[in-house]
Amino acid sequence: VDVESAQTPALILNLDALERNLRLMASETTMAGIRLRPHSKTHKSPWVAARQIQLGAVGICTAKVGEAEVMVKAGISDVLVTTEVVPQNIARALSLATMATITLVVDDSRTATEVGRQATAQGLEIPVLVDVNVGQNRTGTEPGQAAVDLAMLIADTPGLRFAGLQGYEGHLQHRFALEDRRAAALACYQQLADTQLKLREAGLESPWITTAGTGTYKFALEHGVASELQPGSYVVMDSQYAKVERTPFENALFVMSGVVSTNRPNLLIVDAGYKSISTDDGNPSVRNEPTATYQPAGDEYGRIAGLSGTHKPGDRVWLVPSHCDTTINLHDSYLLVRDDGRIEGELPIAARGKSS
Ligand SMILES: Cc1ncc(COP(=O)(O)O)c(C=O)c1O
Repeated sequence: VDVESAQTPALILNLDALERNLRLMASETTMAGIRLRPHSKTHKSPWVAARQIQLGAVGICTAKVGEAEVMVKAGISDVLVTTEVVPQNIARALSLATMATITLVVDDSRTATEVGRQATAQGLEIPVLVDVNVGQNRTGTEPGQAAVDLAMLIADTPGLRFAGLQGYEGHLQHRFALEDRRAAALACYQQLADTQLKLREAGLESPWITTAGTGTYKFALEHGVASELQPGSYVVMDSQYAKVERTPFENALFVMSGVVSTNRPNLLIVDAGYKSISTDDGNPSVRNEPTATYQPAGDEYGRIAGLSGTHKPGDRVWLVPSHCDTTINLHDSYLLVRDDGRIEGELPIAARGKSS
């Protein structure tokens, strides 16, 4: 069946492009001898996660416990939850730990102590990473002594096993210029390396160091302190990432919209608005039409200007999301297509909305 006959708006995933992206990241990390633990916050699909693991990933990351619940129930056996577990979620996280290997990150000694208390009560030992702030100023202890202090507390807490460091440099992923991004990323990794050395001086080994996203993974491979990478967006990319110099992945994600109305001069009104494509990272672009522009026109509508040719209601206009993660989270399923436009099936976005 031809994809253009499907209902709109539809979230389209090109399976061939996805597979090429998965293979490319898998082979680059394997060649560098560094483990890959892709972030599933982007695709939110246990099926894609399983394919990543088949291709050599050691497990996956989830942003939240809610996503981890979906992945573990679908059979994924090794999950790192990259956002600090909060007191209200500790019991949920620990109940997953009876079914799979669950690693948590912390940046707060009170939370670490509480995880240890509850884990001990259940006879569990939970691997825990210290989350380190390498410049994003979001979560994380400061590098150096503060991270060492928290690591020592974890190492001394029954029910916990100090496993290493996480330091995600999210503020750098979209710096467009290669050299600028590289220098800033290498400085982040050096902070992790310095902290690792300080830990060693304090008698603690931290063999597991995880960092990097789609915009920086190459520099993490180059620096060498990371034992594991956690990129997410590379699986499908988006129009913002496409502008980032030297990100060798291809766009695999589209929103296929349908023309609803053609009565405004020089404008097409399509059926994809805020409810089907995100605009937090700017407006989507129009596939293969560099001079056309899309603007949201409400929850259910978009305005397209500058499209070549003539159009009528029901025509299809393919949009390239500006931000893959937030667009995917708006949809229940992907419509799977091949390079030639053939529909291959539907894939549920099982972890969409699982943000707690
Ligand atoms: C903690 C963490 N690690 C990794 C990633 C993946 O980064 P990217 O999607 O840029 O590859 C994200 C994405 O926001 C993240 O928050």
